[in-house]
Amino acid sequence: MEQRLRGRVILVTGSTTGVGEATARRCVAEGAQVMVHGLEEEWARAVCADLDDAARYLICDLGDPANCARLVAATVEQFGGLDGVVNNAALTTRSNLESTDAAFFDRMVAVNLRAPLLIIRAAVTEFRKRGRGTVVNIGSINGLAGEENLLAYSISKGGLTTLTRNLANALAAERIRINQLSLGWVATANEIALKQREGLPPGWEKNVPRAYAPTGRILAPEEVAAHVAFWLSDDSAPANGTVYELDQFSHIGRNVTKAF
Ligand SMILES: NC(=O)c1ccc[n+]([C@@H]2O[C@H](COP(=O)([O-])OP(=O)(O)OC[C@H]3O[C@@H](n4cnc5c(N)ncnc54)[C@H](O)[C@@H]3O)[C@@H](O)[C@H]2O)c1
Repeated sequence: MEQRLRGRVILVTGSTTGVGEATARRCVAEGAQVMVHGLEEEWARAVCADLDDAARYLICDLGDPANCARLVAATVEQFGGLDGVVNNAALTTRSNLESTDAAFFDRMVAVNLRAPLLIIRAAVTEFRKRGRGTVVNIGSINGLAGEENLLAYSISKGGLTTLTRNLANALAAERIRINQLSLGWVATANEIALKQREGLPPGWEKNVPRAYAPTGRILAPEEVAAHVAFWLSDDSAPANGTVYELDQFSHIGRNVTKAF
C-alpha cells in the first residue's frame, strides 16, 4: 500500500463503524495516526485494538457543541498535532414534513452540519501551526434533493455542501483544503441490517436492481475509504472546494428508464 499519509495525524469522526471505520483503517494503512471517534465505546475499542499504537479513541456526542473542540483538543493531546479531519459522523434518521418538528430538525442539523463547522473552527488553529491542513467532508447525494423520507437529513447534507465551498474559498490561501465526497448508497453493516429489518433478504446488497446500482451491487465502505485517502493526501492538491459525487452514475440528467 502507498504511504501517502505517512506521519500525518487524522481525526475521523464517526469511525466506530461503517465508512468512518474503513477510513480510519485505510489512513493507518497509508501511514497515518488516527483519532477514532463515535458513540459506541466497545466498537471503538475493537478498531483501536486492531490498529495498535496508531489509533486512540474518544467517545462523545457531537450534538453537544463543546464536544467538537474537545475532540480536536484530545487528538492534539494524543498525537502532538493535527493534519487532517474527516467529518464523517452523521445521524441518518428518517423524517418527512410531518415528523420533522423543531427539536428533530435542530438535532439533525447540530450533528450533521454544526459539528463539522465547529470541528473545522477548532482544527484550523492546529492547521495554522503546521502551515497546512486538509478536510474531507462526507456528504450525500441526498443533499441534491433527497428522498422524501430523508427531509431533515437531506437539508443537513445540502448545507454541508455550501459549508465545504464557502470555507474552501476562505481558507485556500493558507494551504488549508476542504473537499467533499457526496456518497451514493454504501453497504455498511448498519445499512445492510437496516434494509433486512425493512424486509430485504440477506445478501440484498450484492443483488441490487440496475436502476439503483448499474453494477448490481452498491459501494463498499473500503472503496469509499480509498477515495477519502486520496482527498486527504497531497495527490489531490491543489484541488479545493471540490464536491465530488461518488456513485456509479450521474445524479443530474440521468435517464432512469434506460437503467432497466
Ligand atoms: N451508508 C450510506 O449508504 C451512505 C450514503 C450517503 C452518505 N453516507 C454518509 O456517510 C457517512 C457515514 O455513514 P455510515 O453509513 O458509515 O454511518 P454508520 O451509521 O454506519 O456510522 C455512523 C457513525 O457516526 C457516529 N455518530 C452518529 N451520531 C453521532 C453523534 N450524535 N455524535 C457522534 N457520533 C455520532 C456513530 O457512532 C458511527 O460511528 C455519513 O456522513 C452518512 O451521511 C452514507
